[in-house]
Amino acid sequence: MTQPTDVLDQARAHLNAGDPAQAAQTLAPLMAQEAPPLGVWHLGALCAEALGDLDSLPQLIQASHDQGVLDGSLMVRLSCYAGEPTAQGDASPWLLAMAAGGMLTSDAAPGSDPVVLVSNLLACGQSGIVERLLSPRAQASAPDWVALAQQTATALGFDAPDTAKDWIFIGGCPRSGTTLFRAMLNAHGRIYAGPETKVVRDLANIRDRWDRQATHQAGVSSEMLDRAAAAFTDQLLSEWGQGFPRVAEKTPGNLLHMRSLARIHPRARFIHVIRDGRAVVNSLMKVNWCNPKTGKSLWYCESVDKAALYWAENIKQIRAQSPGPERYLELRYEDLVSKPEAAMRAVLAWLNEPWDPAVLAHHTAPQELPAMETSSHDVAQPVHDQANSVWKRTLDAQDLATIHDGPAGEVLVELGYKEATPRGQVLLESLGLGF
Ligand code: A3P
Repeated sequence: MTQPTDVLDQARAHLNAGDPAQAAQTLAPLMAQEAPPLGVWHLGALCAEALGDLDSLPQLIQASHDQGVLDGSLMVRLSCYAGEPTAQGDASPWLLAMAAGGMLTSDAAPGSDPVVLVSNLLACGQSGIVERLLSPRAQASAPDWVALAQQTATALGFDAPDTAKDWIFIGGCPRSGTTLFRAMLNAHGRIYAGPETKVVRDLANIRDRWDRQATHQAGVSSEMLDRAAAAFTDQLLSEWGQGFPRVAEKTPGNLLHMRSLARIHPRARFIHVIRDGRAVVNSLMKVNWCNPKTGKSLWYCESVDKAALYWAENIKQIRAQSPGPERYLELRYEDLVSKPEAAMRAVLAWLNEPWDPAVLAHHTAPQELPAMETSSHDVAQPVHDQANSVWKRTLDAQDLATIHDGPAGEVLVELGYKEATPRGQVLLESLGLGF
């Protein structure tokens, strides 16, 4: 008499031989049993996946769970098909990580076959995930797997979008380490991140000023302004970064226009460099930028309270315009300088770019560091973390009280740079008895 486990083995053999229909047929009598053998539902789920029968998949996976047969990678694939985030968040980075770890190879479990995976993802309309699976980052980590995935996608008529216009816009409050970060990115073999053009920021600003009733009454709609701004920036950045697959433009004020830029450039990504406000205030006091026409200090370099307000407003205004975690990333200066490899690996993974160790030696890469950019001298040096604590020696108690008690205080707490002051402490401080 044939044992259920023999039937299970036969079904598995059919599946592994690329015949999921025969495998499903073999399994059917076992599934009809009152107490089906262990693993039946799991194998059934793999057959359904290979057959593209995604409607049955959730129930089969549930039944498999009920039997105590758990398959995390099948769960991840299911949530990708459904376009649902898993409990851990967006599932597609998991998929990528599995591809990178070689777990998604064509000779592993049948469901991880790129042909099956890509076909199902495209059938479910999850082209965004397919795009990530074909990204340069995935290619660098699992070239054979991605080549098969690419063949499948092409055969199914999937046209990967032109990533040349996936602009990267970098910004943040000036003196936050934005220039260092752009120079590190510029050392990457696939990315051009030259000096500040200021053009993207200024154009977004002008576009928003034009977006008013008088312009609309003259027959120029908001959408026309968006398209014209997109054409201008696309043309400019393509020429500026000619020869590079990705282009990053850093001008600190870019992200103050993130809402408009995200709409104008639907594939652009935004990186916000954030630094402890006390270090930024200290740095702004040190550089003391002036208006070249009047020779007077810029308002936010005039005093500690103004610099602190400027920092807090920058952070708040940028964060309020976030287009969501897929397109907006916060990078801490402190992380960048104290653990540059981990920080840059995270950034590049988020950009779907392969790791390139050259980013850790930006000072040896060809760089354009114009004399007119204040940070150029420092940026020519290797990454160091010495600027992290300078403010502790140079800001006095009065300066710190001014920062902590003003609008920046809340933002420092919100960002985790400072602990919230306990109520009793606030009272003591207000009486001049704090310590
Ligand atoms: P300090 O003025 O506190 O030294 P931005 O370019 O956004 O204006 O930021 C300037 C800050 O970046 C400066 O802070 C500067 O020290 C820091 N920076 C520049 N190059 C650096 C490097 N190679 N390593 C660490 N920090 C650097």
